[in-house]
Amino acid sequence: MRSVITGTGIGLPPHVVTNEALSKLMDTSDEWIRVRSGIQERRYAEPGQGSTDLGVIAARNAMADAGLTTGDIDAVVFATMTPDRMLPGNGPLLQAALGLRDIPTFDIRQQCSGFLYGLELADLFIQSGRYRRVLLVGAEVHTPFMPWHLGWDTLIGQSTRAITEAERAENTLSRDRTVLFGDGAGAVVIEGREEPAGLGPIRLHTDGTGAEVLTMRGVSFKRRPFVTLEQIQAGETLPVMSGKEVFKAAVTLMPQAVREVCDAAGVAVESLDLVLIHQANLRIIEGVQKALGLPPEKVPHNIERYGNTTAATLPILFHECRAQGLVRPGMNVVFTALGSGLHWGAALYRT
Ligand code: UT7
Repeated sequence: MRSVITGTGIGLPPHVVTNEALSKLMDTSDEWIRVRSGIQERRYAEPGQGSTDLGVIAARNAMADAGLTTGDIDAVVFATMTPDRMLPGNGPLLQAALGLRDIPTFDIRQQCSGFLYGLELADLFIQSGRYRRVLLVGAEVHTPFMPWHLGWDTLIGQSTRAITEAERAENTLSRDRTVLFGDGAGAVVIEGREEPAGLGPIRLHTDGTGAEVLTMRGVSFKRRPFVTLEQIQAGETLPVMSGKEVFKAAVTLMPQAVREVCDAAGVAVESLDLVLIHQANLRIIEGVQKALGLPPEKVPHNIERYGNTTAATLPILFHECRAQGLVRPGMNVVFTALGSGLHWGAALYRT
């Protein structure tokens, strides 16, 4: 039995926010963002729109693409680091919104590697014979992390008022992170089939000694209460990142993981057809591509349009590659990601 991706779908929020628009809110520029990250624009959710809402749109599209209805799904895996609620997770909320049967839903985190970890779970579920059709969703709404309290109205085109100097100074404090992230969702339907195509090998890694390089300390059940107004005011509810350390880990460990799955499959790296890399920074994507000695056309990217959507980057990218006819039968496609945890890994997928 092989785990085959039979449907893909995406759910993108309505507001397109350019670098130029962000530069009106804080001390940044289109040039800085493009040169350092490759990002040109990103999508922002509507106020009140959560990662479950975007996940539901993506999931509906993926099920329709697979030719399945809600009654066909046997299990859900929902990867997000920006859930609608602390509890319950997005899984049950999505199940209710879609009207799925009372099937099990699994909420996982793993941040930027969430989709990759979800592929592993879905594949193990299918290989074990436990579930036949798994819906895997990666969805994020990062905008509530962004600490500017004033300026949303101008960003989403609802006001043309000027930002005050005080607002601009406050927004600038977090510019090294906020300009990188966007909102979005991607979903895939994975089905057990008796055919040569399918997922595997998959290799996953965690190194918790790297937890501090990308983390959020402000909301914690080690504290009583777990969040206070002072923490919010001190900006502790915003993730902190040592960008350079994450960058170095990404360009070293993702190529290693890609080589691991290729070795395990007996496939030469040069003979890979597509390598889909977590979309965190165009310079990271190009670094991994060069480390693997692959031509740029085998490493497509869409970070220009969406920024970093954490657990959603890989399913959105895979969906767009399929839609553009880049994914054809008989190809060797690799997914790879690295992010907070540190969690990283790679998955080979024979189409
Ligand atoms: O999804 C996985 C998680 N994230 C990642 O994989 C991100 C990995 N890291 C990166 O992508 C890069 O390290 C960044 C894009 C975050 C930063 O790029 P960098 O080349 O490492 O820049 P830097 O942090 O060294 O900052 C250079 C300068 C600093 O000014 P000084 O100290 O040199 O005067 C920053 O204050 O750029 C300044 N800066 C900005 N300037 C304008 C930082 N953010 C901005 C900004 N606009 N948005």
